[in-house]
Amino acid sequence: MIESVYHWHSFVEIILPEWSLLIDPFVTGNPKCDVSLDNLKDKKVIAILVTHGHDDHIGDTAELANHYGCEVITTLGVAHYFQSQWLEKAKWYGIGWTYKNDIFSAKFVPAIHDGSIADSWLSSPCAGIIVTIDKYKVYHAGDTSLTKEFELLEDLKIDLCFLPIWGHYTMDSLDAVIACKMIKAKIVVPIHYNTRPIIKADDMEFASTVMVNRYGVPKVLKPGQGVVIE
Ligand code: NI
Repeated sequence: MIESVYHWHSFVEIILPEWSLLIDPFVTGNPKCDVSLDNLKDKKVIAILVTHGHDDHIGDTAELANHYGCEVITTLGVAHYFQSQWLEKAKWYGIGWTYKNDIFSAKFVPAIHDGSIADSWLSSPCAGIIVTIDKYKVYHAGDTSLTKEFELLEDLKIDLCFLPIWGHYTMDSLDAVIACKMIKAKIVVPIHYNTRPIIKADDMEFASTVMVNRYGVPKVLKPGQGVVIE
């Protein structure tokens, strides 16, 4: 059994009894995030995964990784940026590669999105990340538009899928429904929407459309709520 908690925007925490894994830990400036940096620093975190180099995904990675002394697993360009700017613990894993240790693996898959990195002139391809722990597979799509790449994920039998639905920086909720049809994950959680009033995405309409069409079981989460898979 593992639990994945949504801390709003794209920040997801995978929790096991002994430790946590953070994905895109955007706390400072995330208006609906339910945890503080101090709360997070009390946790045992073994790694931070970052899908791409935008500020709202790198978030507080540098401060947290330095606090934990943990590895940061991200794309090649973002890892270079971390190493040159902030910290020396970043591991570099490019798209299509899989990171593995004794506890989990993280497979990087393509995401179609602008690849600029923070405030630099650097750029790096964006990723989605499939985390495998024991028999469980959790897919965090990062920021992406609708892409045929999703069809390749069906065979992986994803248990839990986090998909962006905002429609301004990423695919909208209608495209995200099509993504669900292609991925065929068991449980689908909409993320990366309504953080700022640019475009309002309708999470309930997304959920009802996914449910009616049987493209997975939708779960609309408030900040701090989670999904248990077992
Ligand atoms: Ni982005």
